[in-house]
Amino acid sequence: MDTVTTIEEVREAVRGWRREGLSVGLVTTMGYLHEGHESLILRAAAENDRVVVTDFLNPTQFGANEDLSTYPRDFDRDRDLCENAGAALFFYPEVSEMYDADACTYVDMDALTNELCGLTRPTHFRGVCTVVAKFFNIVCPDRAYFGQKDAQQLAVIKRMARDMKYGIEVIGCPIIREEDGLAKSSRNTYLSAEERAAALCLSRAIFVGKDMVEAGERDAKAVLDAMTQIIEAEPLAKIDYVKMVNFDTIEQIDTLSGNVLCAIAVYVGKTRLIDNFIVEGIE
Ligand code: PAJ
Repeated sequence: MDTVTTIEEVREAVRGWRREGLSVGLVTTMGYLHEGHESLILRAAAENDRVVVTDFLNPTQFGANEDLSTYPRDFDRDRDLCENAGAALFFYPEVSEMYDADACTYVDMDALTNELCGLTRPTHFRGVCTVVAKFFNIVCPDRAYFGQKDAQQLAVIKRMARDMKYGIEVIGCPIIREEDGLAKSSRNTYLSAEERAAALCLSRAIFVGKDMVEAGERDAKAVLDAMTQIIEAEPLAKIDYVKMVNFDTIEQIDTLSGNVLCAIAVYVGKTRLIDNFIVEGIE
């Protein structure tokens, strides 16, 4: 695996692979990698001849009062994980490489981003779309892999790839969890021991909600009420949202049909955690 820091080095590597007729997969990350990220890289390595992993803490997707300055970092561990998972190129750019000092162009979206995390984080998806568009332009992969952990992000990137005619297949990958159910996240490191235990109310609520839907419940309110009750029973938890939306449009629904995303965001202490389940093809 080669580690590079400039856009030109990435383009040169990809040009070489293309000359050999090799396929290219892309996994974008903000670093502090765990088994969730690893699962994307392993899948990309299984489905493509070469895999590029980007490791870039993207400042434009953080709000003014968010955790950009405290976000955990571990370059050596990230690089080792990528190499062992089968990546061919590890792209670790500086902010100045990705954003010119006077950059004034953004990729933004009229729909899908005004609900769920977009309500609490109004500039977040503009930052995500802009940086992912840059990575798509730099790498020009055949396929790009995103975790269902960030389900709204997955829907947003799928839509961006379609609308902007990238010709890149955007592939969603399942949520990887800790043994006790907590969805793996770089932000879990912020939790104290007490908060870590309290954080289990998210996955407990998700599992109960999913069971209800799989057992045939089609009333969104019934599912959301049951989930809300579980989270509210936890004193350290404070709900940001518990919602049921159409997975393709991210619009709220009352009755479950089609592709459904049930998404939650909960503060545990000061840490904001997200989790979700998706049920597709409901009649
Ligand atoms: P980051 O939070 O580092 O996540 C990178 C990728 O890993 C995303 O596609 C995310 O959904 C996936 N991922 C994280 N935790 C996961 C888990 N437990 N199971 C499965 N997949 C998981 O998401 C971002 O970075 C950024 O917004 C980015 C897309 C890189 C743009 O800056």
